[in-house]
Amino acid sequence: MEYTISQRGQRYAFDALVIGSGIAGLCYALELVEQRPLASIAILSKESLYDSNTFYAQGGIAAATADDVSSHIADTLSAGDGLCNEDAVATLLQEGQESVAYLMKQGVHFDHDETDALALGQEGGHSNRRIYHVGDQTGTAIVQALVARIKECPRITVFEKHTAVNLITQIAPHQPACFPEVIGAYVLDELAGIIHTVMARVVVLATGGAGKVYRYTTNPSVATGDGVAMAYRAGARVGGLEFYQFHPTLFYHPKINNFLISEALRGEGAYLRRPKTGERFMQRYAPEAMELATRDVVARAIFSEIEQSNDDYVYLDIRHKDKAFLQRRFPKIYETLLNAGFDLSQDLIPVVPAAHYMGGGVISDVEGRTDLGRLFAVGETAFTGLHGANRLASNSLLEGSVMGRHAARASCHAIDTPLHLHQAIEDWDSTSVLDLRRASQINVHWRGLRGEMSSYAGIIRTDAGLRDQLKLVLARRDMIEEYYWKYAITRDLIELRNIILIAELIVRSALNRRESRGGHYREDYTEKSSHAMESVLKVNDVSRTE
Ligand code: FAD
Ligand code: SIN
Repeated sequence: MEYTISQRGQRYAFDALVIGSGIAGLCYALELVEQRPLASIAILSKESLYDSNTFYAQGGIAAATADDVSSHIADTLSAGDGLCNEDAVATLLQEGQESVAYLMKQGVHFDHDETDALALGQEGGHSNRRIYHVGDQTGTAIVQALVARIKECPRITVFEKHTAVNLITQIAPHQPACFPEVIGAYVLDELAGIIHTVMARVVVLATGGAGKVYRYTTNPSVATGDGVAMAYRAGARVGGLEFYQFHPTLFYHPKINNFLISEALRGEGAYLRRPKTGERFMQRYAPEAMELATRDVVARAIFSEIEQSNDDYVYLDIRHKDKAFLQRRFPKIYETLLNAGFDLSQDLIPVVPAAHYMGGGVISDVEGRTDLGRLFAVGETAFTGLHGANRLASNSLLEGSVMGRHAARASCHAIDTPLHLHQAIEDWDSTSVLDLRRASQINVHWRGLRGEMSSYAGIIRTDAGLRDQLKLVLARRDMIEEYYWKYAITRDLIELRNIILIAELIVRSALNRRESRGGHYREDYTEKSSHAMESVLKVNDVSRTE
């Protein structure tokens, strides 16, 4: 049954529109308040302020002391496998200590050891202990502290349950037509079912990752790559999307989705074992680093073990550690597993690799500037070259906090420069069709796409599989585009449209990269090419090649 409805919402104007409420968006907003106390700021969040990748971060934030920075840089470059931007690495990592101090000033209480010094954790690929943490709930502690500060700022308006649909652009007289200026966004108010026109002098994409493109993910449901999709459609270059990082150890359980078992457990000595025989296997894949090899190596090893054995998972084993230590160091993990029937100090824990971090994103400098005027990208959505082909654990909370604050300073000039509209900006088209049967049918695409992406464009890829996947993605894209232009806009529809575009960009990037490097592994090109090629996609260039 079809109904015609109006989705026209209200019109708003702010100095800054921040799309996303993870560490990067919140740090941007707080720093802009410092720089421009009178600026009006809107923060959008798809769910509540407490629902983001940041909120679920467990291990902690990597921050080297002055005499350890060069080693942290070397570890990051080594994980990045030849594709890091060395300037971005140096700039962002040098601010580790300052970031930790900043977060403490906002009210984050990092753990201390028995000597009352700040306690430092260890994770894969790090030569030294340099991870500051709050138990195994570092992200929750950071979000709670930053949100408390946000609530003290009268010039910040928070819109929860609001989802940006698309960016509003115009061609400014001084800008080439292919790189427009971004002057706002259309935003779905999910509860009212209407779409607002939000104008702004600066728009900040802080929308996090896109884990929901794969079947298994550590990410919460908001992670659908919206920022990258919106920026790409608006004409910004995106890069590095073939480097989706898989975390080796998602808890494998029929009823508990997306629960990560932190790498910090392997940092404290946990082993990986085959289910039937109980034998350790990492010596066959990384004889020196073993369970603390970089994530791409460990995730691939687990994937191969699962494939060869026909098991659905492998085991993580930390039974050799003291129960009291485990309860103190990993309280959230201990409790969650116990509620699911597993005692970390006595039981083997079933785990699978899962999509975890979007290594690519909107191409930007370390201050968040993108190709498009007045548009900034920060945190996981941005692609600065910090992570190269594979992110070093715990570098992304650092990236989010540093970039968010850098971008706030860099955007002041645009905040001070009034918007001149060179064309009339229409409100959202007032009528659309609501068809409940069709709405439930499109949801079938979710499951299909995520399964296909995991099989064809997941941890191990081939040319034939990627080509099949491209055909499947493009067929789904055509169906959803038709639906998008005709029917009422819902959050499901926005997310599905975006996730299909992200899938297309991942597959195209993976097809183009005929080598194995970092998180991208091609069974038909197992060697690393002698030339470290960058991968960049732009909307008009891609459609010209079709
Ligand atoms: P996010 O924190 O993901 O925030 C994105 C925000 O954007 C959300 O508020 C979302 O609602 C909003 N949003 C998205 N689309 C829209 C839209 N269309 N409209 C409106 N709002 C939108 N990194 C580390 O460094 N250390 C760790 O220990 C660590 N552990 C992790 C554990 C887990 C389980 C996960 C999933 C990730 C972990 N990471 C860790 C990675 C790290 O948490 C993220 O990379 C980082 O927090 C991203 O921050 P962000 O601000 O860029 O985005
Ligand atoms: C973890 O705690 O294992 C996640 C750390 C990260 O992704 O940086």
